[in-house]
Amino acid sequence: MRCLTHPLLRKLLSLPAQCVPGRGTPSKGAVLSPLFLRQSCSAGPGLMTATDMVNYWQKVFETNGIPEAQESSQYIVSFVLGAKTFQSLDSKSLHTPLTALQQEHIQQLSHKRLQRMPVQYVLGEWDFQELTLKMRPPVFIPRPETESRVIAMDKEEAAVDLTRENAYRLQLQERIHIIHQDVSHSSAKQLLLWGPIDVIVSNPPYVFHEDMASLDAEILCYEDLDALDGGDDGMRVIKTILTLAPSLLKVSGSVFLEVDPRHPDMVEHWLQAHPELLLTLRAIHKDFCGKPRFLHIQKQSS
Ligand SMILES: C[S@@+](CC[C@H](N)C(=O)[O-])C[C@H]1O[C@@H](n2cnc3c(N)ncnc32)[C@H](O)[C@@H]1O
Repeated sequence: MRCLTHPLLRKLLSLPAQCVPGRGTPSKGAVLSPLFLRQSCSAGPGLMTATDMVNYWQKVFETNGIPEAQESSQYIVSFVLGAKTFQSLDSKSLHTPLTALQQEHIQQLSHKRLQRMPVQYVLGEWDFQELTLKMRPPVFIPRPETESRVIAMDKEEAAVDLTRENAYRLQLQERIHIIHQDVSHSSAKQLLLWGPIDVIVSNPPYVFHEDMASLDAEILCYEDLDALDGGDDGMRVIKTILTLAPSLLKVSGSVFLEVDPRHPDMVEHWLQAHPELLLTLRAIHKDFCGKPRFLHIQKQSS
């Protein structure tokens, strides 16, 4: 692991007083050029915004070979502003000059990062799944690769684009693989590139074709009808998913499907007529109106 040498660290700790995070005497050794420091102040001389701070510290980290320079500076600045991610800061927070206290806090945390302290320890907390956990060296930092990975598939470009946008907004882009494809044209071989799957979850189009015309005007006028129309028996996409499932799932893996209340019986009969799929309907769950709407189907252990 590469660490900062002491003279360099001293230079970094004595950044110019004006227009630079925190206080200090002017830098003689030029960790970053004074021009860059002046350019960093978008809100006026001496007034640094969150964006300025991120740019400034990113540059310092890059200059000093700190990995993930941009992410590190973004996490530190957003943490000091009370946010989880830089992307979640609104325009006002991004462009309001930071207080001296905030600048000093950012400087203190950034100096820890300059010593190669993992950003999780620098912040003293990190999210794992839905939990925000305290982090303290030397206790192990949860690794994202041990969290579940999701493969999302949709045939509509608009749905895929929006999923991607939401994944970025929620900082989940590393954990989700988004595929723009029609499941009917997908092969198990192609989908297995990411390995056998634990669980398939789908809210497929399941409206019976004859019921489509009686949907509310809000739906008929604005929503994608292809997202709803499940063909004559509402099971066109359901059958495709169930046919692919045995080759995709691990042994004892599960399929969870949202369906029409008429489908639980129909799906059960269809599975009985296709024993080669080795799938069993394990449970039927009701929605909050008491209608049977969710199926748990499991792959048998052959
Ligand atoms: C009822 S919507 C559900 C949307 C979203 N997954 C949810 O749960 O809110 C059905 C989705 O399935 C997609 N879809 C329909 N037929 C498909 C197919 N053959 N292959 C892949 N996606 C399909 C539609 O584009 C639509 O986004």
